Formats: sequence, C-alpha cells, structure tokens
Amino acid sequence: MAKKQELVRISREEFTDFSGDLIAFCAVSRDKKAPLCDSRIKKIIYPAWKSGDFKGDAKDFLLLYPGLLGKTPLSSLAVKRLAVIGLGQEKESADEIREQLRLAGGHIASQARKCRAEKVLVVLPDIGGLSTASKTEAITEGLVLGNYSFDKYKTSQEKGKNPPVHTFFLTGSGSAAAMRRGLRMGLTAATAACKARDMANEPGNVWTPEKFAQFGRKLARKYPLKCRVIGKATMEKLGMGGILAVNQGSSRPAKLVVLEYRSAKKNPTLLLVGKGLTFDSGGISLKPAAGMEDMKYDMCGGAAVMCVMEVIGQEQPDHINVIALIPTTENMGGASAVKPGDIVTHYGGKTSEIVNTDAEGRLILADALAWGIETYEPAAVVDLATLTGAVIIGLGHHRTGLLATCDRLAAQIEKAGSRTAEPFWRLPLGPEYSRQLESRVADLKNVGGRPAGTITAAAYLQEFVGETPWAHWDIAGTAWDFTEKSYVPKGPSGIGVRSLAALVRSWKHDR
Ligand code: BES
Ligand code: MN
Ligand code: ZN
Repeated sequence: MAKKQELVRISREEFTDFSGDLIAFCAVSRDKKAPLCDSRIKKIIYPAWKSGDFKGDAKDFLLLYPGLLGKTPLSSLAVKRLAVIGLGQEKESADEIREQLRLAGGHIASQARKCRAEKVLVVLPDIGGLSTASKTEAITEGLVLGNYSFDKYKTSQEKGKNPPVHTFFLTGSGSAAAMRRGLRMGLTAATAACKARDMANEPGNVWTPEKFAQFGRKLARKYPLKCRVIGKATMEKLGMGGILAVNQGSSRPAKLVVLEYRSAKKNPTLLLVGKGLTFDSGGISLKPAAGMEDMKYDMCGGAAVMCVMEVIGQEQPDHINVIALIPTTENMGGASAVKPGDIVTHYGGKTSEIVNTDAEGRLILADALAWGIETYEPAAVVDLATLTGAVIIGLGHHRTGLLATCDRLAAQIEKAGSRTAEPFWRLPLGPEYSRQLESRVADLKNVGGRPAGTITAAAYLQEFVGETPWAHWDIAGTAWDFTEKSYVPKGPSGIGVRSLAALVRSWKHDR
C-alpha cells in the first residue's frame, strides 16, 4: 500500500532552499519595540513596524515578495511569497502559548489558501516557555484545523476559489525527534477533529445511524479495535426502551455502535458515550421551523467519541482501555412516533414518563450509560451530547457545560480543555435539581421544567450512572458556531475530539 502523504511534514531543508509558494514566519509583539522574530527577516519587517502597520499582534499579517526586496539576502529566494504572522505578546503559561501557535497556524492556513498556495514552509518561532514537541504539536493543529473546508456538495466554480493547501512543511531549530513527536500528536488529533466536522457537515439524509455503524466497522478493520453494532432486535431483548422509543417515529433503524480498545486487563477502563442523533426534529413535540436544519448536528457528541477512537487506534496507548458507545437514531414524528405521556422502560428497569419528545437525547443516553456501565465496569465515564439549548443561554458558544459526580475527574477534564483551548465551565448537580424530575406515574419524567435546563438534563442522566465517577459534557453551544477564531470554521467545530485525546493521553500521569 502506498504511504499516505501527510498534510504537514517536517523539513530539514534550510528555508533559503525552499522553492514553494509561501514561507511563513512568526513575530512576537513588544511594547514600543520592534517585534521579535527570526533574525533573517528582522530588517525587512522593520519598516512595516516603524510605519505602524505591523506590530506582531495576533492577527497582524505581512505579505512580502522576494523579488521586491531589493538588495537584501532574501531577494534571491526561490519561494514566491513570504508571510509574517503576529503571535501577540509573549505569554506566560504553556497553554496560552499553545493557543497562540494554534491561532498562528490557522491564520497561516487561511492566508495561504487566499493566495492559492500549494506548498507552504512554516518556520517554527524560537520562543521560550514550551518544548519543541509541544510547539510543533500546537502549530500543526492550527494548520490542519485551519486548512479545513467542506465543499463536497458544491458543484460550481466557487469550489476552486480558496483550495486547501496541499502540504505544509515545518522547519525549526529544535531536535528533529521532538518535532516528529509533536507533529504526530498534532496531526493525529487535528485530523480526527476534521473527520468529526465532516460527519457533522454531512446532511441527515446521508449521515444516518447506518453510517455510524459503517464507520465503526471501518475503524475496527484498520486498527486494533473491536466493533459491535447492536441493532433493534437486540435492543428489544436487552430492554433498551429509551432508544427504541426515540426511534419509533423514524424509518431508519436505531443502532448502538460499540468500539472497544483494550490494552491490558489490569488497566483502568474509560467509557465514552456520545449522543448520535442524526436529525432531531423534536418528534411529536415538534421544533420550530427556523434553524431546524442545524439539528443535523445533533450527532456531534457521537462523532467526537467515534473520531477519538481513531486517535486511540493510531496511538494504541498501553495505560488505558477505552470503550466508545454511540447510541444513534433520528428523532422524527412518524405515525408510530412516541407521544407525550408515553412511559418507557430503560435498560436496567427504570421507567421514564416522556413529557416532551424533544428531550430525546437523555432517553437514548440513559440506555447506553446503564448498559455500558454494567457491561464494562469502567473506572470512569464521560458522555458528550448536544443536550440542551439552555447551555447556550448560560454559557454562550464559548464554553462546554461540564457536570460531574467526581471532582478529580472534573479537574482532569478542565485541564485537558485548557490545554486544547476547548474550555469548560462546571455546573452543579444536587438533589434539589433531581427533584424537578419527579413523575407522578413513573420513576422519572424526561423534563424538569424551564429552570436550570442543563442541570436537570444532567440530573436525569445521573440516575443511570450510579456510583461510577462520571462527567457529562453538554456541547450544544460549542459543537457548532464555536467561538470564532482562525482555526475554527463556521459550522461544526469538531469540539471534544482533541480534549478527549488529551484526557486519554494524560490519564496515566494523573491517577
Ligand atoms: N438537541 C437538542 C438540544 C439543542 C438545542 C442543541 C439547540 C443545540 C441547539 C435537544 O434534544 C433538545 O431538544 N433539548 C430540549 C430539551 C427540552 C425539551 C427540555 C431543549 O433544549 O429545548
Ligand atoms: Mn431534542
Ligand atoms: Zn437533540
């Protein structure tokens, strides 16, 4: 099999020998002083700084042409263009520097695309505070995430307007081994996040529950993962009444896709569960028409969980076992759809009164959580779901809602989120919230009223988790329309993939 050409590669070539379309440098801004940058470009950016046009602030950008550089050593370069990207002021914390570099990577990718560059050389800046591997990892993430676009359904000339860059070459003064290590980590995680974006961008008539199953099976052929797809007949036998109820109004059968990565019996098992609602119409409790098309994104939790399994399949960590569950169905209002007032029995025997058919995510997650915990006896459980509109009211599009029964797990997740710049904000759980879910006729009702909608949704899930340390990520605000920045496009963000990868990678050190 021919080796796949990677989007980002390490180059050992001197930048003066590079003959591609663009070389990108970074510059750090300073108070009242010319920006810090590679000594070889200092002279040529000086006039731009002097005239006040380029300070090296984040988003500052200079485009230069070697042929116009007069009597400088750079005028004879074979490359077509030089770009200088501002990083902003020097930062203290490693996570802030990571984000500076990620943003720079995203910026470089979008500028390169604007000038239709195919081959781009990126010179890693000589800044302190971060190892060569981490610098390489961060800028690689920015380049890959920033180079992303989804135009497979565009047939017009618009398609070729800003074509993605073919190859980014990275060069720098650090050790080649460290650069290769960082590159591998950045490439693996960011490519998986782009895959999650692809899944989300696919419309509901294409990305169906069956597609999740197919993708799971494909991963299992490619990597040391086991895939099992639980269909409706088995769900009925197991008594997964929640997912079956949500699926009732749809013509596409529900699936529970299971992916298993096992390193060693003695290792702790992390259970990941992702909501894979391939379209959420609301069901009989129909959603309003405006914006309903966005509900094809209601599978972003499932996509993130599925895509991080590709990272795990590639990295094959020896310290952890990871099980992924993706309960997947549409929520439609067909003739046999579940109705408000219906009562269903979940896996494990708990009953729910379905008061609102639009609170369907928790119904399918309930079965998956209860079954997954009983089957795999995990050390910890993390679920990802576009669960509530309320989390957008509370946190906007800038932070994922985090609800957890274990402070240590929550702290570890917050740390992963800070490392990846996918920030969380923790919300409380408690009996006073759980009481909002009391039903007169069943064990629980599936809605807790308007107050604290994100918390009561999590409190509902909590009923199916028991004592296992558990964290719930409500990504309804961040899975798409996430904070605007250079490496985050409009539309789905791929949120969660990189944070889950960071969580898995760091598991050994923190426990
Ligand atoms: N998938 C939605 C949540 C959602 C809403 C995500 C808007 C992103 C943007 C979920 O299934 C839902 O409909 N939740 C309801 C719950 C309510 C009926 C208790 C909601 O948030 O309105
Ligand atoms: Mn819904
Ligand atoms: Zn939903």
